Amino acid sequence: MDITAAADTLRARLGDRPTPDIAVVLGSGLGSVASAVMDPVIVPFIDVPGFPAAGVAGHAGQYVYGTMGSCPVLIQAGRFHHYEGHAMDVVAAPVRVAAKLGVRVLVLTNAAGGVNPELEPGDVVLVEDHLNLMFRSPLIGPTREGEERFPDMSEPYDAALRKAALAAAEELGVPLRTGVYAALTGPSYETAAEVRMLGRLGADVVGMSTVPEVIVARALGLRCLAFSMVTNKGTGLSPEPLSHVDVQEVGARSGRVVGDLIQAVIASLPEGAQSRGAK
Ligand code: HPA
Repeated sequence: MDITAAADTLRARLGDRPTPDIAVVLGSGLGSVASAVMDPVIVPFIDVPGFPAAGVAGHAGQYVYGTMGSCPVLIQAGRFHHYEGHAMDVVAAPVRVAAKLGVRVLVLTNAAGGVNPELEPGDVVLVEDHLNLMFRSPLIGPTREGEERFPDMSEPYDAALRKAALAAAEELGVPLRTGVYAALTGPSYETAAEVRMLGRLGADVVGMSTVPEVIVARALGLRCLAFSMVTNKGTGLSPEPLSHVDVQEVGARSGRVVGDLIQAVIASLPEGAQSRGAK
């Protein structure tokens, strides 16, 4: 995929608007967060050279550029999943494009199942660390321009941004748990035995995204923050079988909380330096 061509297309659509400092990736059912930006410029993925049309119901598949408070942000509403058959470099392409545009902070959201039995549908979890149980990396292959070959992963989720998120949650009076996100390829949901295994491995939530994007972001030096919205209890922790429709419904209902948190975090970062020297 030609990242420069994709970034040039997006840049041209933004005209002389300021470069976005922050990109926000919206997962299943979280599309409403995009409505919080002012003066939106919408660029469907289909208009970006090299990007396939997003396939999963509930994933709109478009960039929404706009301002949140005083900060220019690039919202990525929808993402490419490995389980749709997209190669890992397609999954990671929107992050590479955002970085090429000048984004230095990446906020990711996802829908996830609760592995920790204390988690209930509607809970929001601030991701502290992850388990890459996809056993694949978007960095495999020749090292790309501006990317580290062997990026350090001791702090994939930026400590200062996590602190800001916890402070924002307290300020807003919304409960925010912290936990470890396990990424599996899907698309089948886990078996009950797999959910028990994930718990023993140290996971609190499980999903099918985010980790490839974070790996590329770290290779590029972007600071990451991720929120998991618990849409269901993991298989075996509730008598209900899982359905994608239920996952989307909970996402839509609780998306506002995540949107409010993201806005508050962005607003709390130093003026004009949302992405630079905010530590
Ligand atoms: N497992 C994996 N991915 C998910 C789940 C789940 O239970 N819920 C939402 N995304």
